[in-house]
Amino acid sequence: MPRALIFKEYGGPEHSAVADVAKPSPGAGQLLVAVKAAGVNPVDWKTREGLLRDFRPLDLPAVLGREASGLVEAVGPGVTGFAPGDEVFGATADAGFSEYALLDAEASAPKPAGLSFAAAATLPICGVTAYNAVAHVHPEAGDVVVVTGAAGGVGVVVVQLLHDRGVRVIGTASEPKHAFVEKLGAEPVAYGEGVRERIEALAPAGVTAIIDTVGGDALRDVAPLLADGSRLVTVADPTAAGEFGGSMVSRHRPTTTLIELADLVVRGALDPNITATYPLERAADALAEVQTGHVTGKVVITVP
Ligand SMILES: NC(=O)c1ccc[n+]([C@@H]2O[C@H](COP(=O)([O-])OP(=O)(O)OC[C@H]3O[C@@H](n4cnc5c(N)ncnc54)[C@H](OP(=O)(O)O)[C@@H]3O)[C@@H](O)[C@H]2O)c1
Repeated sequence: MPRALIFKEYGGPEHSAVADVAKPSPGAGQLLVAVKAAGVNPVDWKTREGLLRDFRPLDLPAVLGREASGLVEAVGPGVTGFAPGDEVFGATADAGFSEYALLDAEASAPKPAGLSFAAAATLPICGVTAYNAVAHVHPEAGDVVVVTGAAGGVGVVVVQLLHDRGVRVIGTASEPKHAFVEKLGAEPVAYGEGVRERIEALAPAGVTAIIDTVGGDALRDVAPLLADGSRLVTVADPTAAGEFGGSMVSRHRPTTTLIELADLVVRGALDPNITATYPLERAADALAEVQTGHVTGKVVITVP
């Protein structure tokens, strides 16, 4: 039987373990994929803790994981454009920390040969969220964009996409990560008390947009830098963003965006910065690393 990281009850990591599960069968619009890699996101531990159970109730035990790459084994009714044997990556229909997963065909794309399975697995949720956040602020020449959480999974992609458009980027991160953030193409600034003054000193003419990947005080501390919230977008905290007239990022995940992101990685214009990989049998450790809230770049689970 396939192995997967399951959790039996909502709560801490003690409720999860790698166990045998039934092989899923693809429903309408789904791909059954033999997983090669899966991206780990904060939403995974938030799901296990039950923080999302009101929006997305699950039948337990359940498997975690929202983005994955692998080989198509079968396609469900109504799926066109994919066939068994294809190398693909996409958003999972249910779960990805497993030897076999169901992908949503409409949020999946063929994996180019020059893109690793690990890098591909970071794009469907983390990469697309970053892409949508950048699209929201419509960056153009002359912009000065503040990115909170510039060293995290979403932040590293946001910074590189903005840098690629020739925009000036100021990224908040803890001091040990400043050299890393600078390499991505942003001017690093320490977050916490005085962050607004530090940004004002760097950009005395003002900032023109904010992309927030942290929420809470990290967002509230910088939001007053903008006169209004029309170019303030968050991927993490719609409540705090709303206090300043800002918006939550769109959840739209079309195949065209995946293809565009994959092309950027293949061309060397984007690096998801995978800083840790864990074999499936150690998936719980991968989740624990992300749950610290202080990962650098991206954590990925691989299936041998
Ligand atoms: N809406 C969506 O579709 C979507 C998709 C993906 C993610 N998200 C959400 O977006 C958020 C970020 O996700 P992620 O994958 O980027 O998380 P992550 O990889 O865990 O990154 C967290 C980053 O935040 C930084 N950080 C922590 N506290 C901070 C603070 N007070 N100020 C500035 N930076 C701080 C950390 O850097 P330091 O170590 O330097 O503190 C770390 O690099 C999460 O809430 C996640 O649930 C939403």
